[in-house]
Amino acid sequence: MRTYLVTGGAGFIGSNYIHYMFRKYGDEIRVINVDCLTYAGNLENLKGVEDRENYVFVKADIRDREAIEKIFAEYDVDRVVHFAAESHVDRSIRNPEIFVETNVLGTLVMLNAAKKAWETQDGGFLPDKKFLHVSTDEVYGSLEEGDTYFYETSPIDPHSPYSASKASSDMLVKAYIDTYKFPANITNCSNNYGPYQFPEKLIPLIINNALQGKKLPVYGDGKNVRDWLYVDDHAKAIDLVQEKGRLGERYNIGGHNEKQNIEIIHIILDTLQEMLPEGDPRKALVSRDLITYVEDRKGHDRRYAIAPDKIKEEIGWYPKTMFQEGIRLTIQWFFEHEEWMKHVTSGDYQKYYAEMYQA
Ligand code: NAD
Ligand code: TYD
Repeated sequence: MRTYLVTGGAGFIGSNYIHYMFRKYGDEIRVINVDCLTYAGNLENLKGVEDRENYVFVKADIRDREAIEKIFAEYDVDRVVHFAAESHVDRSIRNPEIFVETNVLGTLVMLNAAKKAWETQDGGFLPDKKFLHVSTDEVYGSLEEGDTYFYETSPIDPHSPYSASKASSDMLVKAYIDTYKFPANITNCSNNYGPYQFPEKLIPLIINNALQGKKLPVYGDGKNVRDWLYVDDHAKAIDLVQEKGRLGERYNIGGHNEKQNIEIIHIILDTLQEMLPEGDPRKALVSRDLITYVEDRKGHDRRYAIAPDKIKEEIGWYPKTMFQEGIRLTIQWFFEHEEWMKHVTSGDYQKYYAEMYQA
């Protein structure tokens, strides 16, 4: 039985990945989920897996070397899938320090602990041990309309404190690969959307606000472009890279689903109208009149776009879920999880929202 140490498994992508892995492998794997449960971590995301005998949750901070080494000593870990991070650009603009602490220093702790657990006396590593560092396309900086795409060979040119911290952690992973022949991969993925996404990010924020008839804040001219990927496709890509990818390689994940923010908002509003049943009072609230242009994000990257050629050619992965389908699945999930939304938007979220949007 392969043992996975998943960091940040109570967050958006990490929890979707854990669900995906149990759907795919069932009792053939064991998952140790290590998460310190920041505002973005929520054990409700793991309902349905928490009673499994092959699932363990450990509340620990990836910056805590002793705690992380203890986990490696206790479990014979075969795979590390490292999601844990501070992940929101707007928060990084307001408070960069925690991004460096978690994303850079936390990644260093993970690398050192895995290296210590896996290295052999001859300076090599135990067979079939692998570390996958989950990163973002934002490390490549920003494209203009008409530019081509981000490739694995594109220069690393981050602009926000978030993307700079992720780029730094990527560099550390690469340094371990180059220096120690550490068995790792790096994946750089485009913007994800889907179930369990925290409503500080564009898509769940718009769905949640629209259903309540609240303003829909659009930064700048609304024409910034992101390349959107349904989260299950990301989970699948991570598993395939780890099992079929060449060790030491970086793989871009994403795929030609570029949309302007304002287009995304229009699609969400139209889809909500289509999906809400006649007579539902929320139908009257959902309207383009809610769209409100607000001050632009500082240093706002104009366009991200991934060329997934390498992962497609070497591994055979390509995104399966088209946006029209993915957004319906996402909206349906939010319809069915009103309690989840109520829980995550109580308390601290209200404070964040009021400060961020002066609302
Ligand atoms: P998220 O913010 O939803 O979840 C992050 C998780 O990490 C939370 O459960 C949080 O509690 C945990 N965490 C934070 N600091 C920790 C610490 N010090 N110790 C232990 N756990 C800690 O993030 P997400 O959107 O699921 O992103 C996961 C990863 O994927 C990140 O590394 C992010 O950079 C990367 N990524 C995200 C996207 C996206 O669109 N969301 C796209 C590409 C890559
Ligand atoms: P976000 O979901 O924060 O992801 P990222 O910044 O990592 O790409 O934002 C996606 C895009 O939507 C980005 O161009 C900023 C924009 N945006 C808004 O216009 N309004 C909002 O309220 C938010 C949260 C984002």
